[in-house]
Amino acid sequence: MTMPTNQYPLLLQQLKALLSAESDLQANAANLSSFLYHNLEQVNWLGFYYQQGDELVLGPFHGQPACTRLSIGQGVCGTAFANKTTNLVDDVHQFAGHVACDTASESEIVVPFFSKKMNGVLDVDSPIKNRFSATEQTFFESAVDIFIKSLEA
Ligand code: SME
Repeated sequence: MTMPTNQYPLLLQQLKALLSAESDLQANAANLSSFLYHNLEQVNWLGFYYQQGDELVLGPFHGQPACTRLSIGQGVCGTAFANKTTNLVDDVHQFAGHVACDTASESEIVVPFFSKKMNGVLDVDSPIKNRFSATEQTFFESAVDIFIKSLEA
């Protein structure tokens, strides 16, 4: 671990406050990306892909420019979306089909979401291996839950 995980409950509280006054998809996806990117260590890319047919298309994010379209069922993002479960990858180089958008990425976690306004994934990349554990999985799944609920407000 590279950061104090006892910060997570506070970050989730702050995220809730940040998103609670707004229900616009792009506004809240953009603010979530900015907030988490700037408050987490060892994260080089954090953002959204939205479902469009059988593809995931790039949405709001922080980090280097990224691949614009991913196939559902392929790569770390496409697999998480197809399986409807979080995909936690300790070493992206060991994941068959990993799509290398940013060559700095070494580990990755992808949380899929399904809501009335939009389906997609939250993708978080790290420049170090083994950055994400079950603690981070719970954290990012909670963040996505706050995001989804904010859209319905
Ligand atoms: N590595 C991802 C592609 C998205 S970038 O990491 C931003 C994947 O394999 O799905």
